[in-house]
Amino acid sequence: MHKRYVPIVVTIAVLLAVAIVGYSQPPVVQKSPTRVLMVNNGGRVFFTHAIHADDYGYDCADCHHDGVEGAEPIACGSCHPKAFDGLFKEVHQRAFPSKEYCERCHDSEPVSSMSDDERPDSDMLLTRADAFHGQCMDCHKAEDAGPYGEESCSTCHAK
Ligand code: HEC
Ligand code: HEC
Ligand code: HEC
Ligand code: HEC
Ligand code: HEC
Repeated sequence: MHKRYVPIVVTIAVLLAVAIVGYSQPPVVQKSPTRVLMVNNGGRVFFTHAIHADDYGYDCADCHHDGVEGAEPIACGSCHPKAFDGLFKEVHQRAFPSKEYCERCHDSEPVSSMSDDERPDSDMLLTRADAFHGQCMDCHKAEDAGPYGEESCSTCHAK
């Protein structure tokens, strides 16, 4: 081979190697968000996710009780919906990465036509706003740090 081709061949070989390694990696998993903006009737809430997880030193499982070991956390609203209406029932069946999640709430493999005593009791499961108020404020109260209580609304909610 002519000498001046050597750098070109080497460059191509390196690029090819990089491409092969890149393609053989698992697909990009969802990263833990830095901040979460929550739009709701009480006014937008800006949640400092990374600061809570890193600086305040909490474990993922302190807040994400998804219940499947080793899995990426999923949105609270997949289980704690705005309302237990038709939309929830339709969407939530596709919201979970594996069937193991179903058994967090369903006794046995869920089917689309369930008798009343097969249905999970939606009264036992908090709606989204109650779940957030509960988890955020219970921890702030327990730690006596961060906003909670009747006067605290505008500390979390933008007017
Ligand atoms: C102090 C509580 C708290 C801690 C600690 C925490 N998270 Fe979260 N995380 C949340 C809340 C609240 C949301 C918003 C979920 C929503 O909007 O439904 C969220 C959202 C997420 C999401 C996006 C989910 C989605 O699909 O919307 C991921 C991924 C995530 N967290 C991963 C992590 C990881 C990984 C850790 C540990 C390093 C962690 N979280 C620690 C409370 C927490
Ligand atoms: C895979 C479904 C699932 C996800 C995702 C989920 N939860 Fe829950 N959550 C439940 C179930 C089921 C209960 C009922 C009691 C139990 O089993 O702990 C519950 C109970 C709660 C409670 C009541 C008391 C307690 O702490 O046990 C709060 C508050 C709560 N969830 C907040 C959240 C928040 C905030 C998120 C997101 C960071 C979240 N949940 C994500 C299923 C889920
Ligand atoms: C966080 C709790 C929770 C999880 C996890 C969950 N479900 Fe449900 N599911 C419910 C609730 C609550 C209802 C509504 C019960 C009612 O109708 O009163 C329901 C209803 C259903 C229905 C009945 C719809 C209808 O009315 O005919 C099906 C089907 C279903 N779920 C399938 C699934 C499948 C499949 C999974 C797992 C991939 C799953 N669910 C995970 C709580 C859950
Ligand atoms: C597991 C405990 C825990 C949970 C759950 C939690 N927090 Fe906090 N939060 C803290 C602590 C501790 C501080 C105060 C740290 C300090 O002052 O040094 C704080 C501080 C704050 C502050 C003021 C400083 C900042 O970082 O913005 C806001 C606002 C806040 N939290 C919002 C929320 C919201 C919204 C949620 C629920 C989505 C939430 N927190 C859930 C522990 C928690
Ligand atoms: C620690 C932060 C925090 C504090 C303090 C707080 N909230 Fe919230 N609030 C939230 C979060 C987070 C949500 C849920 C956002 C979502 O569902 O996207 C929420 C949701 C709401 C909603 C929407 C309910 C719905 O069904 O859509 C209202 C209304 C509300 N809060 C009123 C209040 C009032 C009134 C107070 C004071 C007594 C208060 N909040 C204190 C964080 C807070």
